[in-house]
Amino acid sequence: MGRETIILRSASEIERLRRSNVIVAEILEILKERVADGITTMDLEGICVEELKKRKAKPAFKGYRNYPYCLCTSINEEVVHGMPSSKRVLKSGDILSIDFGVYYDGYYGDSAVTVPVGEVSPEASRLIEVTATCLERAIENARIGNRLFDISYSIQSYAEGKGFSVVRAFVGHGIGSSLHEPPQVPNFGEPGKGVRLKEGMVLAIEPMISAGTHEVHIMDDGWTAVTADGRLSAHFEHSVAITKDGPYVLSRL
Ligand code: MF3
Ligand code: CO
Repeated sequence: MGRETIILRSASEIERLRRSNVIVAEILEILKERVADGITTMDLEGICVEELKKRKAKPAFKGYRNYPYCLCTSINEEVVHGMPSSKRVLKSGDILSIDFGVYYDGYYGDSAVTVPVGEVSPEASRLIEVTATCLERAIENARIGNRLFDISYSIQSYAEGKGFSVVRAFVGHGIGSSLHEPPQVPNFGEPGKGVRLKEGMVLAIEPMISAGTHEVHIMDDGWTAVTADGRLSAHFEHSVAITKDGPYVLSRL
């Protein structure tokens, strides 16, 4: 059928997706512990490459549309798709989004976190907290019988209620034997709309929330998305299976 067909995954496929996502989660934990003033984003990329080797897993992003690295490392006003660089030294007060995916045994895993570097401003820590809560609310709505945009609305209503804005240029996605599968999962939308959620759907839900405008620009490197007004942005992502027993967060340890 067409590209819009949403693949429903069996319990055994979901367990295989779980394995890929556990690898993502374990490596993200290791990376989070290493985030500190003075480390470069290329140092984090190097650690990631080693950890992937240990687990015989492949990076999901490297080579995807010619993206050159395993990690996306987006600092401060960078929204998503920032590239690791030996010239980017983290400093106290920064916020860093780490987005990471793997391919293992036929299935993809995808997750992202935003972490403070040392002591950050009250606005930065509030933005991180609100974005993390947006994802938790979204996960709670990833239930049989709900509609897709119930997820979207739960993110948008919370973020905007806190005075922040929802990035629209990028969306979440189905995930399975491809990194990106239907459906697209926007972080904004009307409750009660969109496809009905069914058992076996697996969604990568990834709110990107900005302190100021929701507009983004793409830098000359062709990848890095930055807020149009230069204010902060945060990003969290989990891969979530919709099951009879409720949402199953595949990328949480
Ligand atoms: N989590 C992001 C996504 O699902 C990361 C993609 S980075 C890319 O789109 F390099 F693979 F494009
Ligand atoms: Co994703």
